[in-house]
Amino acid sequence: MMEWTDRHCRYFLRLLSRHALLYTEMVTSAAIVHGDRARLLDFDASEYPVALQLGGSDPRELAESARIGEQWGYREINLNVGCPSDRVQSGRFGACLMAEPALVAECVAAMSAAVAVPVTVKCRIGIDERDSWEELHEFVRLVSEAGSRTVIVHARKAWLSGLSPKENREIPPLVYPTVHRIKQEFPELEIVINGGIDSLDACREQLRHVDGVMLGRAAYHNPWLLAQVDAELFGDAHPVPSRHEALEAFLPYVERQLRAGRRLCQISRHVLGLFQGCPGGRRFRRHIAEQGYKDDAGIEVLRDAAAWVPRDMGAPPPRATIGGYAPC
Ligand SMILES: Cc1cc2nc3c(=O)[nH]c(=O)nc-3n(C[C@H](O)[C@H](O)[C@H](O)COP(=O)(O)O)c2cc1C
Repeated sequence: MMEWTDRHCRYFLRLLSRHALLYTEMVTSAAIVHGDRARLLDFDASEYPVALQLGGSDPRELAESARIGEQWGYREINLNVGCPSDRVQSGRFGACLMAEPALVAECVAAMSAAVAVPVTVKCRIGIDERDSWEELHEFVRLVSEAGSRTVIVHARKAWLSGLSPKENREIPPLVYPTVHRIKQEFPELEIVINGGIDSLDACREQLRHVDGVMLGRAAYHNPWLLAQVDAELFGDAHPVPSRHEALEAFLPYVERQLRAGRRLCQISRHVLGLFQGCPGGRRFRRHIAEQGYKDDAGIEVLRDAAAWVPRDMGAPPPRATIGGYAPC
């Protein structure tokens, strides 16, 4: 998620789930071809598996970026056809490409020919007045025939003018049945649903209809949600760290990043939601917000912040709490 997630965030989330596939924020193909690749693409091996999301509409440039991404170690290359921001539209990529399904198919075909890893597409259910079932069906048909065997669908349309990106994530109504219908019509495709899904119960309900669930804001604001997915959704009941243990496990990485010249606040923002809903959770956030931005802030800020939350309040989820949040 642009301006929210980054490699530090993914490193932290990977401590909570071994199985969830993590995506980069959108990176434009032009930036990868012409820009500072190490800065844009480097990730820590322990973040694996990670998918690289590209933005663009030039088939050759996308193919080149996909090839670079694959060589860099990304496990999947995803094309963004869902972002409605003005900036993205003026570059002719993101959600506005839903109006050009043949071009998207050309991009997917070029990317698929360039790499062995899966090429996937993330789209909306429609844009502006182009939100009929037939148009969505045609879009999915074309991109799947071009090589995208997985389609991630944000279950709301986007208005390309008049709404901000934030409003476009909130105002157009979620229409889950449309995504379910896509799965019915294309049973051979892997259909992943996205939008407004914020609990394991909601994931389970969606998984009755589709193959996968993508979590955005919920996972960012309440990262501990991911601590439950390995056991509850992937069937791998390895021991889950408590919230305190997860934070402690993150600290050596944070220290390495600080030594490399990063500031604590660049990294600590990703853990602010860790104790969401726990007694002391607000003090945890506030301590980091007040202390974490200082030039000399070190990992003790995170330890001191965690001390506001009683240790037994950060315990791992008992299996019996399936579907609800464990008592912090
Ligand atoms: C700050 C922010 C940045 C986002 N950036 C991206 C992005 O780079 N690529 C993308 O496909 N979606 C992006 N999204 C959209 C989310 O991936 C997701 O589709 C949307 O928030 C709806 O899902 P959710 O309700 O689970 O958050 C972004 C969302 C937010 C809040």
